[in-house]
Amino acid sequence: MKAVVLVGGFGTRLRPLTLTTPKQMLPLVDRPMIEYAIGALKGGGVDEVVLSLGYKDDAFRAAYPDAQCCGIPLSYAVEPEPLDTAGAIRFAADFAGIDETFVVVNGDVLTDLDLPQLWQRHHETKATATIALTQVEDPSRYGVVPTDAQGQVLGFVEKPPADTAPTNWINAGTYVLEAAVLDGIAKGRRVSIEREVFPRIAAAGGLWAVRSDAYWIDIGTPATYLQAQLDLISGVRGSAAPAISASAHIDPAALVQRSVIMADAVVAAGAVVHDSIVMAGAKLAANARVESSIVGTNAVVDHDARVVGMSLVGDGVLVGANQHLVGARLPASRLPASN
Ligand code: GDD
Ligand code: MG
Repeated sequence: MKAVVLVGGFGTRLRPLTLTTPKQMLPLVDRPMIEYAIGALKGGGVDEVVLSLGYKDDAFRAAYPDAQCCGIPLSYAVEPEPLDTAGAIRFAADFAGIDETFVVVNGDVLTDLDLPQLWQRHHETKATATIALTQVEDPSRYGVVPTDAQGQVLGFVEKPPADTAPTNWINAGTYVLEAAVLDGIAKGRRVSIEREVFPRIAAAGGLWAVRSDAYWIDIGTPATYLQAQLDLISGVRGSAAPAISASAHIDPAALVQRSVIMADAVVAAGAVVHDSIVMAGAKLAANARVESSIVGTNAVVDHDARVVGMSLVGDGVLVGANQHLVGARLPASRLPASN
């Protein structure tokens, strides 16, 4: 079973963290996010992965120079320019010579969903494409997928305006596709699988879906990137991962609660950390306060500074003594309305 893993997006919603590291190479507690995605595919029976790359592809090559990840061979399909989701799938499949039924996943999703079940249902229904669905409270920032009682997809609406979604079952970002889907994707231009390809296959009656209530989170926003890690350390998904790296140094007079402290980070006396991520090599000086926020690799929060309310501090950035960041990004990042 071959899988294309989409990892070429710009990760704009996670700037400034993604200015230096592509989204799927950002760490989740103790390893890059991509390793969770590939590990899950391996558990589901995938034995070959094609990484669909664009933005900062070198970071992936540097991390897996022998083209192996989690014991699975990788190939690197690098787009000359961003082709959007379907364009990227076509490019990667052509690159890897895929000519049979295959799997596609959004590489920024952390999930325990049952891939063999999706694969089996795809074959039972003789679908052209089959999508895993998950249920969320606010479907407006996802692909919304109404189905009939058997799971045949009635339509596909990407990011509908708030309160207009016909259902709160959404595209979980894992698909089984027939190779024939590739022929319907124009070459060499941007094509969205969500806005163009799935609506067309649904209209032709070939799109099916399988609902899943397994753990699922898309780590594309600061809040979900943080939440995914708090879930890993609290054991929501099974055994809890250690929250504090063995090489971190936390002063006995510091207070750290519900937070991840990564390798070689330092938390000085009087500092307080709640519901936050302190990335590798970061330093929190005396009486610094970090709450519901993310402090990037090798960043420094100087004494008596506050980083609160879902603030993001970029790699190597200094938050000066007594400075207060509330829901802020440093350096400031201009964020487009979507993505
Ligand atoms: N190679 C490549 N080229 N990859 C891309 C490109 C591109 O042009 N654009 C996006 N990607 C990758 C991203 O890196 C990410 O892993 C994946 O495609 C999905 O893009 P996101 O930008 O994260 O999309 P989203 O989260 O807003 O929405 C998508 O995921 C939701 C579930 O997590 C859609 O598929 C929704 O329908 C879905 O509900
Ligand atoms: Mg996403």
